[in-house]
Amino acid sequence: MINIAVLVSGGGTNLQALIDAQQAGRIENGRIALVVSSNPDAYALERAAKASIPTAVLRRRDFDTPSAYSDALDALLREKGVGLIVLAGFMTVLPDSLCRAWENRIINVHPSLIPSFCGEGFYGLRVHEAALAKGVKVTGATVHFVSEVVDGGAIIAQKAVCVEDGDTPEILQRRVMEQAEWILLPQAVSDFCAGRLTVHGAWVARTEKE
Ligand code: GAR
Repeated sequence: MINIAVLVSGGGTNLQALIDAQQAGRIENGRIALVVSSNPDAYALERAAKASIPTAVLRRRDFDTPSAYSDALDALLREKGVGLIVLAGFMTVLPDSLCRAWENRIINVHPSLIPSFCGEGFYGLRVHEAALAKGVKVTGATVHFVSEVVDGGAIIAQKAVCVEDGDTPEILQRRVMEQAEWILLPQAVSDFCAGRLTVHGAWVARTEKE
């Protein structure tokens, strides 16, 4: 059984999708052991408490250097015996040292079809604002492994979502969550925990285990 840490900063609807999947028995060989928030007021913390999942708050600005923050987060995760880190709406960029130490063991969900509308500065509603400003007809979500390049790690899964007439960033965000993020993320986490994912450079293969 793999212990999962979910890192959050805000509303936590992706965390909720993971909790719901776990309660429905859809996270094979994994359990959410810890929720870490970068924001003490995040509603995600209440969702974790309701599901009796231990929580911690760790803010980057409470540490003088990236390495002090990285060491504190790393120590917390190791203390809990974590085998997979999931970034579910986590708005702090992880220090390079942590990305290297946890290579291919950190999964992020991003609300666009990478490599569109991603990288530094593209997070949350801003991603959907950029997609609408460009006038794309199709957007979506991506679940990927985290590397030192922001939104640059190997892609695990993607799902396209249509942009519709009259969409606002909020409406589009909700549709992308409902039709893509809340489906892709629990599936990818389950695949990881069940040992179905293998990374070959930029390509992630999904194989059924015997
Ligand atoms: C989600 O749309 C997630 O994909 C996005 O923030 C939102 C968090 O919502 N993440 C990023 O933009 C990361 N670059 P949630 O707190 O309700 O899960």
